[in-house]
Amino acid sequence: MADEEGEARGPYPGLRSFTETDAGRFFGRESEVEALWQRIRARRLLGVIGPSGAGKTSFVRAGVVASRPSGWGAVVTTPGSSPLQMLGQALAPELQGDVETLRQLVRFEDPAAAFDVVARWRMANAQALLVADQFEELFTLCPPEVQVRFAALLGRLAGEAGVHVVLSMRDDFLMRCHEHEALAPVFAELTPLSARSQGRHCAARSRSRRKQRASASRRGSSER
Ligand SMILES: Nc1ncnc2c1ncn2[C@@H]1O[C@H](COP(=O)(O)OP(=O)(O)OP(=O)(O)O)[C@@H](O)[C@H]1O
Ligand SMILES: [Mg+2]
Repeated sequence: MADEEGEARGPYPGLRSFTETDAGRFFGRESEVEALWQRIRARRLLGVIGPSGAGKTSFVRAGVVASRPSGWGAVVTTPGSSPLQMLGQALAPELQGDVETLRQLVRFEDPAAAFDVVARWRMANAQALLVADQFEELFTLCPPEVQVRFAALLGRLAGEAGVHVVLSMRDDFLMRCHEHEALAPVFAELTPLSARSQGRHCAARSRSRRKQRASASRRGSSER
């Protein structure tokens, strides 16, 4: 059904990124999605890197998050200029029904409170994946003290709360992660995405679509 809807709307979402709801029409990254899931299972803090526009957001949302195994909770956040607040907002829909934890969201600016809330969400799921997409915003939009607080929180979530954390960022900001000890594990397991490999898949896919359409129209005219 999602595929049919996707077809009706066209195979690409235009200039915007693919999201979880576009999963049915997201193609070309299957082996990379599978490989990242294997890494996620083995490690708790990982990086997805690539140049601007390589397809990182689409990959993590329509590929990785959309294909999470059953029992896995998943939240995608972006730091913006208030990473803690943004994380609280991203988490809120996951906490429906847990009134006590939802109440704590108002104190989310306090990293200790944020840790407790995310840890409770983690415990409510068999496994939990937290994706911080556009992670470069932490360095471009946030003052140093906010960077320190958020990096430390992510480190604690991965190390102490058992949350699997994926940082998705532009490759030219990767080295900035060295400024935060808590983010050091990211360098041990990186998933580089190149726009070229995506382009190859996409080009192959549109060629095969064109062929399918051409043969369908040939069939149509011979039946007429
Ligand atoms: N597998 C794919 N097939 C076709 N188009 C894709 C694919 N992945 C991404 N795109 C398209 O490429 C463009 C860039 O994708 P996306 O926003 O996911 O990249 P990004 O690396 O997150 O970019 P940025 O660095 O700006 O955050 C979008 O128009 C998106 O629709
Ligand atoms: Mg992006």
